[in-house]
Amino acid sequence: MIIEPRMRGFICLTAHPVGCEQNVINQINYVKSKGKIDGPKRVLVIGASTGFGLASRITSAFGSDAATIGIFFEKPSAPGKLATPGWYNTAAFEKQAQEAGLYAKSINGDAFSNEVKEKTLALIKEDLGQIDLVVYSLASPVRTDPTTGITHRSVLKPIGAPFKNKTVDFHSGKVTEISIDPCTEEDIQNTIKVMGGEDWEMWIDGLKAANLLAPNALTIAYSYIGPELTEPVYRKGTIGRAKDHLESTAFTIADKLSDIGGNAYVSVNKALVTQASSAIPVIPLYISLLYKVMKAEGIHEGCIEQIQRLYSERLYTGGNVPVDEKGRIRIDDWEMRADVQAKVAALWEEATTENLPSIGDLEGYSNDFYNLFGFKVGGVDYTADTNEVVEIPGLQ
Ligand code: NAD
Ligand code: NA
Repeated sequence: MIIEPRMRGFICLTAHPVGCEQNVINQINYVKSKGKIDGPKRVLVIGASTGFGLASRITSAFGSDAATIGIFFEKPSAPGKLATPGWYNTAAFEKQAQEAGLYAKSINGDAFSNEVKEKTLALIKEDLGQIDLVVYSLASPVRTDPTTGITHRSVLKPIGAPFKNKTVDFHSGKVTEISIDPCTEEDIQNTIKVMGGEDWEMWIDGLKAANLLAPNALTIAYSYIGPELTEPVYRKGTIGRAKDHLESTAFTIADKLSDIGGNAYVSVNKALVTQASSAIPVIPLYISLLYKVMKAEGIHEGCIEQIQRLYSERLYTGGNVPVDEKGRIRIDDWEMRADVQAKVAALWEEATTENLPSIGDLEGYSNDFYNLFGFKVGGVDYTADTNEVVEIPGLQ
């Protein structure tokens, strides 16, 4: 079929398999161009099909020759039915991994469930024996607690007072004022349940109890801080509370891993266009201004550049892992540079519907958004008849 982008609100309902494949190949080529990393050999990535998790899987495999197991929640393809991008990404990744002689298997299901955890542990036991690195990169709006059976929904709201600021609809380019009402106490607890560290700890507990973590094993989860501008709705809002919880869970897990010489880290990553971040109000306006400034400075990065740098310059240098005063790895260092932030803050003041296309990188934002779904990718013939059914070779 001929596959075209079909937008509804902030999501795209279609995905292009060849465009997704090309994105993955581009990421693989980037990692290869940076040379070998003396990193992990057996890696479990939870949230492996898109964004930072996919970049972690690619960096592990093609930077460090690692065998990888990927966990994700994606819609498969069927005749006449398109898959979600993460499905096509994974199919492309596994094809490339197999051609390179690298072990790669995947499990598609709810990572929060006991069932997927058990299936994963059995697969590791059978195929890899133990794991050297566990990457935890889930972004989800809901989680059913396997112990209580209760389904929790996360919210993106300020705490204590309404938040009023500018935002942009990146499809229309319209800059408007939004006002978001503050959350309830229950919203905070639900958001922590979904995006905090509880599930990460459950994964590590399960792996450790089954003796599936190798000596000196590491685990890493991803966090975000961002500028003062977005604080009320991000870092000091409901999602920020969940990130506080995630970050404190790293210490709990690190303690539990100390007897095997292991460690747990949170890496604070840069703001990037992903399916998760485009749903957060205000963030798209911030990102479009940030991209403009960082590109002008020659310090712009995407997920793959971020994670390649995380591995090669933070986690696997052979020396100590550098962390901030709260024990976090900072790979958002270039985003948070004082000169970059001062420029973004000044542009924010000025931003209007009329001037945003020139003072901000609205086009870059929009392009990255299309790219997430395999559209507007260089070298892809979108007029060609494309097979929508694509298999993931190592799917369990
Ligand atoms: P993403 O939406 O691209 O990826 C989410 C992944 O989680 C996908 O692989 C998806 O299949 C998987 N997933 C979701 N629900 C699942 C479930 N129930 N079971 C199994 N898999 C499931 O998101 P992302 O932006 O790469 O976010 C990953 C992490 O990075 C998050 O913790 C996020 O907060 C953090 N982060 C994001 C940004 C950003 O700007 N995008 C910046 C810093 C940190
Ligand atoms: Na991810």
